[in-house]
Amino acid sequence: MYSKVDQHIKTLYNEPLDPLWDNQKITYDTAKYNWNEIFLGVTQELKPEIKNLQDIHLHFQLEDFVDLRKHYERFTNSSQFSTMVDEFIVDYVVDKIPSEEYLVQRTTGIRLLIPDQVKQGRLLNFHTGYWTGYDNHMYTTWVPVTDSWDSNAMQVLTWEQTLKITDEIYNNKLSLEEVQDMCEKVCWPVNCKVGEAWQFNQGVWHGNINNDTGVSRVSFDVRVATPQSDFEHRRPGSFYRFPGESAEENFAKLRTDGKWIVFTDQNSDFVYPTPHYMIREFMISYARGLGINPVEWANEAWCTDWMPAFDYKIKQDLQGIVLPSIFAFSESNERVLEMLSEGIENGMQFLFVDENLVADTQKDLDHIKKLYNFMKK
Ligand SMILES: [Fe+2]
Repeated sequence: MYSKVDQHIKTLYNEPLDPLWDNQKITYDTAKYNWNEIFLGVTQELKPEIKNLQDIHLHFQLEDFVDLRKHYERFTNSSQFSTMVDEFIVDYVVDKIPSEEYLVQRTTGIRLLIPDQVKQGRLLNFHTGYWTGYDNHMYTTWVPVTDSWDSNAMQVLTWEQTLKITDEIYNNKLSLEEVQDMCEKVCWPVNCKVGEAWQFNQGVWHGNINNDTGVSRVSFDVRVATPQSDFEHRRPGSFYRFPGESAEENFAKLRTDGKWIVFTDQNSDFVYPTPHYMIREFMISYARGLGINPVEWANEAWCTDWMPAFDYKIKQDLQGIVLPSIFAFSESNERVLEMLSEGIENGMQFLFVDENLVADTQKDLDHIKKLYNFMKK
């Protein structure tokens, strides 16, 4: 049966399927959520001549699609879009999740499925959410922004087919080609008109087949995680935000002049398996991108877990310290908050790269504490 490394998958599939998230179609109010028009407008900022999102492949070169996605992400990070998503969640999701507390995906990614995408090396292969870093307590609503049908729709399997195929995949360690072939034989398209969306469980196999409809399909996911979620690599504060927040960049209070250093606690679980110079180099270029010119980089002392080097740095005359993440410390959360508080009292700012967060007030520390608490639950 399952090998030791696959036990995790077995555990995930052992949880009962919530019928509310068993491939359910919902309809929503397009007058309130006119996503098609909104995303057409965002696209027209780059190409005013485009009249229909289904023609997107006629207006953008293949090599422009990465920039186009980034352009969309700047919009989906805005408080305008985040507020709409939050309201959509209140209208169509909150009643279906088993917790009053939840987090929302911070940056909503936009999916662009162009015609004949397999030839262009752009096939999104069949996968489950478990293969992309989610678990059972993350709830997905797939929202097509253009009509989706047949080969331009997301393809899904039933829960029954999913369980059978998962066994076969894991028992035989199938290649991605074999997985794709197997899923393509039994999948069916999620046909949705604009105004319809799809709610499904992360365990379900889903993906794309070659789009031979001749038109593009645009969609996005609304993802919500409850405290029962095992966050692992997708964490509160970086991948997820609280309702009411947005990922809109808020570096206005960053004081870029003065002495800044880049600091890595390589004893932390966050950094430990990665050569810490990689983390440091990323932080240096991130800081420079924001107009900070670090005067030094420093590391925690190896073989310690009380962070003596960081404790020393927060007492120095520095403008600020760039850190990988609010989770990149080897000390307890309580002690970390204490040290950050001391640094802030000393006039310092802390810039957390993974969270795009500047902390220099007690309110910021309260926010970090809230994120720690959510992670622990
Ligand atoms: Fe997916």
